[in-house]
Amino acid sequence: MSTTLTPVLSRNWDQPDSFTLAAYQRDGGYQALRKALRMQPDDIVQAVKDSGLRGRGGAGFPTGMKWGFLPPKSDKPRYLVVNADESEPGTCKDIPLMMANPHVLVEGIVISSYAIRSNHAFIYVRGEVLHVIRRLQQAVAEAYEAGYLGKDILGTGYDLELVVHTGAGAYICGEETALLDSLEGYRGQPRLKPPFPAVAGLYGGPTVINNVESIASVPSIVANGADWFASMGTEKSKGFGIFSLSGHVTRPGQYEAPLGITLRELLDMAGGVRAGHRLKFWTPGGSSTPLFTDEHLDVPLDFESVGAAGSMLGTRALQIFDETTCVVRAVLRWSEFYAHESCGKCTPCREGTYWYKQMLRRLEAGQGSEEDLETLLDLSDNILGRSFCALGDGATSPVTSSIKLFRDEYIEHFKQGGCPFDPAKSTVWA
Ligand code: NAI
Ligand code: SF4
Repeated sequence: MSTTLTPVLSRNWDQPDSFTLAAYQRDGGYQALRKALRMQPDDIVQAVKDSGLRGRGGAGFPTGMKWGFLPPKSDKPRYLVVNADESEPGTCKDIPLMMANPHVLVEGIVISSYAIRSNHAFIYVRGEVLHVIRRLQQAVAEAYEAGYLGKDILGTGYDLELVVHTGAGAYICGEETALLDSLEGYRGQPRLKPPFPAVAGLYGGPTVINNVESIASVPSIVANGADWFASMGTEKSKGFGIFSLSGHVTRPGQYEAPLGITLRELLDMAGGVRAGHRLKFWTPGGSSTPLFTDEHLDVPLDFESVGAAGSMLGTRALQIFDETTCVVRAVLRWSEFYAHESCGKCTPCREGTYWYKQMLRRLEAGQGSEEDLETLLDLSDNILGRSFCALGDGATSPVTSSIKLFRDEYIEHFKQGGCPFDPAKSTVWA
């Protein structure tokens, strides 16, 4: 389900044919492209800069600034690559967006490619989500047929080829340089940065890589103006975003709202924590972001405020856990994920995530001691900031934050010689 406080990306999701070209055009779709193609490319880049749009894939890097990093001259072609490899545990905003409104992404790609003077664009999408791949392929075919893609788009002389490329299900291929390796046909592993992709990316050419939601936000900026976008959100986190509520919440789903909204306000719209239960902990932006508790219900969900409160806004994947959830078990489950998805390139992450998994399995089973908690924290110090990419750093977040917030619950496992929670009562981890 979707609820919209800022009905932009999700405004037509409830229409049964929302994914078709006909429905998108009925709703004013591709008018922004017509406008953009009458503008100078640099003016579009400036509008995106002025809007304050920041990357919606998690890191929040200013989108227009990233576009501005492309070298003015290069002997290689420029590329636009859309990162549609959404895989962060709890993150589920791009997939519904691409299913319900693939044309807003396609329109965003054409405008963005024109703005950065690229004639080749790719959507790199997770291989497991066949239904999304088919939907994207259908939308791209419709756009070619209608003259929005291909040669001489809308008679302006501008050409763009767009390829939907499927990954093979590795979380690490969502890391932008591993994605590029995978797109080039190699095993996906992160590359050393710098050089950043803007300077040397796909096939060594200047490349802009943006998240699905970032690119999908571009048509509305072109159509309504930078000031309109910047009038929403907070001083440094402008605009709107899709907040994904999952877990122990009455009405889970996608809630499109201005940045800076709080979890308390979102829960009000979502019917609250499931009936008869109370909030225990939650993730502001997926499992790679330090946990929050009910003390953080009023933290504005923007990049600065969440950071100041000790976590990260990340992908706005708000996973809600009530008091029936064993936090040790939740952290174990996430750590198993990271150990499985570690690409193995660097030792702190490859070995550290495996240690996490082994130790947390023992701790959850009630075997261990308080000393093990110190070992886990020490291990985290050796992963954080010493890993080659963000995956290793992210793996430490649930471990360190859960020990900080729920040390007593870990100790209760040793005391009772097992998990104090009855898994049969848990709807999430059973
Ligand atoms: P980052 O902060 O290293 O980079 C962000 C973007 O800015 C990149 O595109 C990078 O190329 C660009 N950039 C940064 N400095 C630059 C410079 N000086 N010149 C040119 N370009 C520059 O963050 P990263 O590693 O790309 O992403 C980490 C984030 O990804 C995490 O915060 C997490 O929230 C998110 N994430 C999202 C997942 C998902 O499923 N959507 C999965 C896992 C993590
Ligand atoms: Fe690979 Fe993990 Fe190192 Fe990233 S941090 S390069 S995923 S081993």
